[in-house]
Amino acid sequence: MRPAVLSILSFLPLFAAAEVSVAALKNIRSNAIPHSYLVEFDKANAMGGKRSVSPHEEFYKHMDKHGAAYTVRQEYNEHDLYVGTAITVSSEKELVALSKAPGIKAITPITTHPRLHPVSKHIVTGPEDPVVPKDVLSTHVMTGVDKLHEQGKLGEGIIVGIIDTGVDYTHPALGGGYGAGYKIAMGYDFVGDSYNGTNTPMPDDDPLDQCAGHGTHVAGIIGANPDNGFNISGVAPKATLAAYRGFGCTGSIGDDIIIKALLRAYHDGCHVITLSLGGAGAWTESASAIVASRLTRKGKIVTIAAGNDGQDGAWYTSSPGSGMDVIAVGSVDNTIFPSQNATVSTGFGPITYYSALPLNITEPLPIYATSTDTSVADDACSPLPEDTPDLSGYLVIFRRGACNFTQKLANIAAKGGKRSLVYNNLPGLQVVQLGNYTTALISEEDGAYLVNQFKAGHNVTVSFPQSSASYGLPNPVGGLISDFSTYGPNNDLYFKPAIAAPGGNILSTWPVPLGGYAVLSGTSMATPYVAGSAALLLQTLGNTEDTARRARSIFETTAVAVRSNITEDSPVQTLAVQGAGLINVYNAVYYDTVVTPGEILLNDTATFDGKHTIHIKNNGKKVQTYTLSHVPAGTAITMNGIMPVPGPLPLTKQYATIGLSQTTVTVPPGMTGIVTAKFQPPAGVDPKTFPVYSGQIRISTVAGMSLSVSYMGVAADMGDMQIFDDSTTFLNATLPVIVNRAGIPQLGEATYTFEGYDVPSIVYRLAAGTPVVRFDLVDADCKIPDYGGAARKRSGGGLFKRLRWLFAQVNKTHDEDDSSFDDIPVIGTILEIDYASRNGPPVAPSLNASDTSSFTGLSWHGDFVNGDTVENGSYRILGRALRIGGDPTREDNYEAWLSPVIIVNKSS
Ligand SMILES: *[C@@H]1O[C@H](CO)[C@@H](O)[C@H](O)[C@H]1NC(C)=O
Ligand SMILES: *[C@@H]1O[C@H](CO)[C@@H](O)[C@H](O)[C@H]1NC(C)=O
Ligand SMILES: *[C@@H]1O[C@H](CO)[C@@H](O)[C@H](O)[C@H]1NC(C)=O
Ligand SMILES: *[C@@H]1O[C@H](CO)[C@@H](O)[C@H](O)[C@H]1NC(C)=O
Ligand SMILES: *[C@@H]1O[C@H](CO)[C@@H](O)[C@H](O)[C@H]1NC(C)=O
Ligand SMILES: *[C@@H]1O[C@H](CO)[C@@H](O)[C@H](O)[C@H]1NC(C)=O
Ligand SMILES: *[C@@H]1O[C@H](CO)[C@@H](O)[C@H](O)[C@H]1NC(C)=O
Ligand SMILES: *[C@@H]1O[C@H](CO)[C@@H](O)[C@H](O)[C@H]1NC(C)=O
Repeated sequence: MRPAVLSILSFLPLFAAAEVSVAALKNIRSNAIPHSYLVEFDKANAMGGKRSVSPHEEFYKHMDKHGAAYTVRQEYNEHDLYVGTAITVSSEKELVALSKAPGIKAITPITTHPRLHPVSKHIVTGPEDPVVPKDVLSTHVMTGVDKLHEQGKLGEGIIVGIIDTGVDYTHPALGGGYGAGYKIAMGYDFVGDSYNGTNTPMPDDDPLDQCAGHGTHVAGIIGANPDNGFNISGVAPKATLAAYRGFGCTGSIGDDIIIKALLRAYHDGCHVITLSLGGAGAWTESASAIVASRLTRKGKIVTIAAGNDGQDGAWYTSSPGSGMDVIAVGSVDNTIFPSQNATVSTGFGPITYYSALPLNITEPLPIYATSTDTSVADDACSPLPEDTPDLSGYLVIFRRGACNFTQKLANIAAKGGKRSLVYNNLPGLQVVQLGNYTTALISEEDGAYLVNQFKAGHNVTVSFPQSSASYGLPNPVGGLISDFSTYGPNNDLYFKPAIAAPGGNILSTWPVPLGGYAVLSGTSMATPYVAGSAALLLQTLGNTEDTARRARSIFETTAVAVRSNITEDSPVQTLAVQGAGLINVYNAVYYDTVVTPGEILLNDTATFDGKHTIHIKNNGKKVQTYTLSHVPAGTAITMNGIMPVPGPLPLTKQYATIGLSQTTVTVPPGMTGIVTAKFQPPAGVDPKTFPVYSGQIRISTVAGMSLSVSYMGVAADMGDMQIFDDSTTFLNATLPVIVNRAGIPQLGEATYTFEGYDVPSIVYRLAAGTPVVRFDLVDADCKIPDYGGAARKRSGGGLFKRLRWLFAQVNKTHDEDDSSFDDIPVIGTILEIDYASRNGPPVAPSLNASDTSSFTGLSWHGDFVNGDTVENGSYRILGRALRIGGDPTREDNYEAWLSPVIIVNKSS
């Protein structure tokens, strides 16, 4: 028996949490905009041909003819890129009409992507420092951009489009104005201040942002003018910028807006397009990732943040950075902390404190220590003693530790203390959050000196020079990958991120009303760095589509891989988190040898292809001899059973081996040398830990040129990765689980009236991403075969098959193929999600849980995705998830789960 027609034609957004009066279910993810779909028209239809009506009109006519109720959110009309519409339907019943419309290529629910919150933020509020040493340009020294600036390469003639929160173009370092002739020459506001990702956008022509800030920071990293008070400079300060505002003051951005902005940036002639945004995706196939990827094929360079989820481990890359041909960017910590020096009346010091700008203290202050014990554990954690003097005229010195800074500063403020220095209880300095107090962190040693002076009764004052005291304090982990940077690869094993750039501790512009300058950390900061670098590349190598298409490979082959730790014997950091390494723009622009490919995808053991060819083209004027060697990176252990290993991922020294056809190659000018490489995955690793191995083939010359080809693979079969969490970590019941209105797991048969909240809710956790997860209603006596063990391994064919599930269903029936998926009779489909990300790490749900990604839940109110409604009877819910790399038409390529019996007993 075949399932009811159209039963799998659509996807139901996750309605959950809010509707269920169950505390436990609050911890549920919902990133789809209710009832909203992207409808892409297929090419033949979109091209129009002889027809006089647009494909859009034709589509609306069809919908109207079928009496469908819908509103149009956006229209897209960029031939070869995306022609279609974004609509909101009044109910999922309208999908029946929608699916029958002619000439449709794909229908996708509209998901939202969160803004990437900076990992740490320090808003600089003090006066400008007129003399700042060149140290602030440390990021440019790290990447060779300083040398390009010296040569006058500043990005002139290149247009960089920024899709973000908008830009405060009134900022003097960003040109102080908007429109032709200004740095921010064009743009658009697609959303308005109050847009939050799901409500109605209020577009206008003005992309000004003075409430969010993120896009202003991004714009400064690309193009801040150097003649500002800080002597910071954008990577491409002469580039022209376009500001596309897709975020309101708070909240997320919908895929419909991202696509609109991508097409506008293309239409406006941007050469580089950058997006510091994304959310867990991990597949190349999200709607905006696909469009972003298409733009690269049209000769645009697209840079997208890799994400700030490093602590959540592997298999969690952000979309749309997961797009196939885009450049996903990871973050490297700045080699310095932007700091200031204070002077001491005794001549000691100077004392360096962590602050981008001087503390706003203009007269020398005597010191007061809250404790004379320099090893006190809980200094100022309790209210200060009765006999404490009025501290308003003092600089208060206190020690870090035991309780948070807010508590200490409140106790000091209770005694009138307004200005203070906190000394460290750890070596060196770290980035700390001190709110808006006039205070800063100093080192353990400097604190001990001041406390001992106070103890000895010496009359010591400390001054805070308001100029000429900026200092680039060396950061011990500077130059290493930032711990927040997201790990790749994608579930479909694409090389993500592609490269890394400075993103930790970055000083840049901030909206004028919010302070003017800020130090932020995140891959949001690394991404515009690469966008600016791309502008320098285009300016120098020629602003052509060919240069743009080669950009990723050029940046990859000239990047410099970094170690995993500061110690000499630490292995090279896994390429799963750094891509090919830290970008070196000078080498990218000036090396006269071109190596391809930039990346070799070795995939998993089931799809392993170990033989690859490397091309070395000598564009120089002299014969070159190249030496080839293997530089392995640490093999990353990514899974512990069904739990992702949290970052930083442990690295082992079990490396792949490579046989090279030659280890030296001599290539005359204009010629290409060819070397073949035969890879062997590492031996002795445990496939159950899904080890990701990686490394580089280094190609160097005696003159010091060093290029590399990066490779990555998984020493396991991705089809073995378990998808449904079947543990009892949630609600003390085996997952997936049905819960009732009280949040109690349903273990045996149960009856629901479907009145109000008396409905079953499905709760599950995806331990791994899946190309398709689907829940169907089936008969109570339905039997599913046990696909346990080897039998449920994926079939040989259809590896990494791209699916357009909906598209496939609309355009062909399964009768035509040898599909086994439809062998189980289905009454109706409750939910289908394609290219689902794994869930976040499991967190015990609680009323106040802010992490909403750990579990997914769906309260089922009795409707199927085709708009039909369930009738009274006895049923079960069948959940199926396609294994990674599996064949969607084969039942045994899915994991299956069957619920206890659900009795539907509606009174009407
Ligand atoms: C610095 O402090 C003084 C006095 O407390 C205050 O008037 C001034 O506005 C502050 N300046 C800044 C830039 O915060
Ligand atoms: C967005 O705003 C709308 C209307 O103001 C509100 O109903 C909705 O809950 C908000 N969504 C989010 C994610 O904050
Ligand atoms: C600091 O600690 C106090 C007391 O434990 C707590 O109430 C407060 O929320 C904490 N503040 C921050 C910013 O963590
Ligand atoms: C500083 O923080 C306090 C307490 O959180 C707040 O009341 C005050 O408005 C803040 N001031 C500024 C300028 O942000
Ligand atoms: C401490 O030094 C300050 C400034 O150097 C001076 O004004 C003050 O009188 C001195 N106090 C004592 C007790 O010596
Ligand atoms: C700042 O202080 C450090 C010592 O902490 C010193 O090495 C550096 O030269 C000083 N820089 C300036 C600009 O005063
Ligand atoms: C780096 O090495 C230091 C010192 O050996 C160690 O304390 C730290 O945990 C290491 N960090 C990582 C991420 O492995
Ligand atoms: C490896 O994976 C990539 C990306 O999924 C795919 O294009 C390629 O065909 C795969 N190679 C093999 C040998 O399966």
